[in-house]
Amino acid sequence: RLPLVRTAGELRKTVQGWRKHGEKVALVPTMGALHEGHLSLIKLAKKYADRVVVSVFVNPTQFAPHEDYNSYPRTEEQDWHKLAAGGADAMYAPNVHEIYPGDFATRVEVAGVTQTLEGISRPHFFSGVTTIVAKLFLQCLPDVALFGEKDYQQLLVIKRMVKDLNFPIVIVPGPILREPDGLAMSSRNVYLDARERGLAPQLHAVIKDMAFDLVAEREVDETLAQGVARLESAGFRVDYLEIRDAETLLPLEGIVSQPARVLAAVYLGRLRLIDNVAVVPE
Ligand code: PAJ
Repeated sequence: RLPLVRTAGELRKTVQGWRKHGEKVALVPTMGALHEGHLSLIKLAKKYADRVVVSVFVNPTQFAPHEDYNSYPRTEEQDWHKLAAGGADAMYAPNVHEIYPGDFATRVEVAGVTQTLEGISRPHFFSGVTTIVAKLFLQCLPDVALFGEKDYQQLLVIKRMVKDLNFPIVIVPGPILREPDGLAMSSRNVYLDARERGLAPQLHAVIKDMAFDLVAEREVDETLAQGVARLESAGFRVDYLEIRDAETLLPLEGIVSQPARVLAAVYLGRLRLIDNVAVVPE
């Protein structure tokens, strides 16, 4: 039976028990409402570790007041069943007071790579993410932690934090899982109505074509201009569409000759969708 752990103390004990037997431990941090994308990270985790802890915690510090913290899908019981079937060894689902007691006063903040793209549209987002992930790392003390490329900038931010603060944890990226029509899986996709669900896959279609054009030596400016036009005519409001260096997220110009990434955030009605694809020049 999959243990449901509620406190940091219990989590420590569970992990220490495994460690005593020489087992390696992986952590997969999530906010629940689990889908195949999350489950793929657990599967990948099993290649790197003997035991997999999945945290399920809707983290209030990464939501702005106008965002969907209160309405974010919470499906704890279904999540437990999915994790039990998906091969997790513990589900860590602390309550909000366990993580943030009333006198909580610390923030973990990464500069540089946070100050673009998502960091501009959602100014408090990344410090909320790094604060909770640092806490989860220290509560669990895993050998490995897995993050999806779906949140590509988040993955780079976590890697930066781990290097800068000497967390002895290996960060492993997982590929983006998509619906058959290309839409990246996301807990927030449940918010899409039927019409929006029909349009949503165009986001991936457009950025995938852009990556193809860039590899075929089309220039960055021209590729971006056409991409924005296609997204707008598909019915999206574009928050950002960018072509960036895959490691630093710095802007690129002309013909792309290094590993790069096309990254986009668009609004479809009130819902904000993000997606990205790799650009791998020959
Ligand atoms: P959440 O959105 O629940 O995502 C948890 C992990 O699953 C992240 O690493 C995310 O990149 C990955 N993921 C989501 N959709 C995916 C998909 N379609 N394919 C592959 N991986 C996917 O990201 C967060 O939660 C939070 O910010 C968190 C890191 C847990 C901190 O609160």
